[in-house]
Amino acid sequence: MAGTMSFTSLFLRLLLTLVVAEVGIGQTTPKFSRDDFPSNFVFGAGTSAYQIEGAVAEDGRTPSIWDVYTHKGYMPDKSNADIACDGYHKYKEDVNIMSDIGLEAYRFSISWSRLLPYGRGAINPKGLQYYNNLIDELVGHGIQPHVTLYHLDHPQILEEEYAGWLSPKFIEDFTAFADVCFREFGDRVAHWTTVNEPNIMCLGSYDSGQIPPRRCSYPGGLFNCTAGNSSVEPYIVMHHVLLAHASIVAVYREKYQEKQKGLIGLNVYSFWFVPMTNSNADLEATQRAMDFYTGWALNPLLFGDYPRIMKKNAGSRIPSFTKHESELVKGSFDFIGLNHYFTAYIQDKPQTTPNTSPGDYTSDMHVKLSLTKDDTPPGPFVPSSSPYNPSSLRNVLLYFKDYYGNPPVYIQENGFGGPPNETLNDTGRIHYINGYMGGILDAIRSGSNARGYIMWSFLDVFELLSGYQTRYGLVHVDFEDKDLKRQPKLSAQWYSNFIMKNDIFLKNAENDRSI
Ligand SMILES: *[C@@H]1O[C@H](CO)[C@@H](O)[C@H](O)[C@H]1NC(C)=O
Ligand SMILES: *[C@@H]1O[C@H](CO)[C@@H](O)[C@H](O)[C@H]1NC(C)=O
Ligand SMILES: *[C@@H]1O[C@H](CO)[C@@H](O)[C@H](O)[C@H]1NC(C)=O
Ligand SMILES: *[C@@H]1O[C@H](CO)[C@@H](O)[C@H](O)[C@H]1NC(C)=O
Repeated sequence: MAGTMSFTSLFLRLLLTLVVAEVGIGQTTPKFSRDDFPSNFVFGAGTSAYQIEGAVAEDGRTPSIWDVYTHKGYMPDKSNADIACDGYHKYKEDVNIMSDIGLEAYRFSISWSRLLPYGRGAINPKGLQYYNNLIDELVGHGIQPHVTLYHLDHPQILEEEYAGWLSPKFIEDFTAFADVCFREFGDRVAHWTTVNEPNIMCLGSYDSGQIPPRRCSYPGGLFNCTAGNSSVEPYIVMHHVLLAHASIVAVYREKYQEKQKGLIGLNVYSFWFVPMTNSNADLEATQRAMDFYTGWALNPLLFGDYPRIMKKNAGSRIPSFTKHESELVKGSFDFIGLNHYFTAYIQDKPQTTPNTSPGDYTSDMHVKLSLTKDDTPPGPFVPSSSPYNPSSLRNVLLYFKDYYGNPPVYIQENGFGGPPNETLNDTGRIHYINGYMGGILDAIRSGSNARGYIMWSFLDVFELLSGYQTRYGLVHVDFEDKDLKRQPKLSAQWYSNFIMKNDIFLKNAENDRSI
């Protein structure tokens, strides 16, 4: 493409200015070790309940929306997580492996339908026992449990009763579930995240319809949904997420925080967006994309309302906060959880409203998003490959610092997806996490309030978008073996040396480039 070179060089000039201004040329060091990070900064790895536990019909657990979805054969590899890594039975072995690696924190989520099989009311004693056992095992090994209350898997029974997130009743039931978790586990758990990636959930579940409960309609709806309304449901669901989050934080603060001394936050998925060209239209589109993706969840938490551009473009389809709700949501966090994987390149796209129906989130945002500078179109959702742009994580952290007043941030997901036949010699993953950790260090040196790096994932797990076709683990799982044998990869050794032996690593040269 003829234009690409000149756009690129213009763009690099633009970014160079940013790097000089934000990082300061003299501050980058060629090497780093654990000691370069603040001593209370934690290094860990994560999973989520449905993706690791298996035992889906055991000991009183009822189906979640993910069980129903996978059993209808919607995964690209037709897989399900009925067994997954069998983490339900292998948690002791797994915590031993974490301890051998030297993980300081383990992020996992609680299966709502295992703990409260009817969505509300009676606690399942076996479910309670499982999470108590897991938490005790972690704490006994000196590993901090970082618990996500909701990782996209609510009880199917609530979907059938009142359409889950679409009903305000969900706020009450979710708050009651969270209250049970705080009461039962809060004496040992000091890091709580209410909802994982609400922005991606709203889009995937209610606009494109790719993931459960698979609702969508024209002009969203890439996935032939049988029900849904992409024009309004993504906005309604985010509104309910934020109100539920705020309600849960209020309960935690009123009843538990003083005694349990924990922290609570909301997770958000954030790209780093880069304008494809330096035209005003693309620059504006880039800010618009940041507002639509990240600001959708974070502006209400920080400023008490949705970004102005979202309210303008979505009009009456985006709910309004009452004054009371706005006050409840604003400030309802001790930290922000950040999931970051990709840089995306943004071009402006004219806002077109179909005559036959109102627009949807995508047409309201009206940008073209590409994952490469040469404009390879993205898949319908997030691809399984792992483009390497380590400074993008630094840039997101600095954006949070400058735009959101530098809240404490835990990086809760970032990692490298390998193919199903990936070997234990996962040098690509080492290069990747080395690079992104260097990016975090640069951000901290420029004043970011980053508090921890919890890479995705501890084990190879059932991936929500690709089933068993992508492996993110530090530890290999042989899914063909009936014992689901675990074997640490080279990356586990690398991470272990970093955390426990304070080994010094070369900072990848790519860190010092901007993108
Ligand atoms: C949706 O349905 C159409 C027509 O039946 C089909 O061609 C298309 O592949 C389907 N798309 C998906 C994502 O299932
Ligand atoms: C979605 O809801 C909006 C607002 O109520 C309505 O105008 C539109 O027709 C609905 N779309 C579908 C596909 O039902
Ligand atoms: C993994 O599979 C890919 C695609 O089938 C193949 O190209 C590659 O050589 C395989 N790698 C190993 C290590 O077997
Ligand atoms: C691991 O892979 C790297 C590069 O892909 C190679 O140089 C090295 O020899 C491999 N090590 C082993 C033990 O296979």
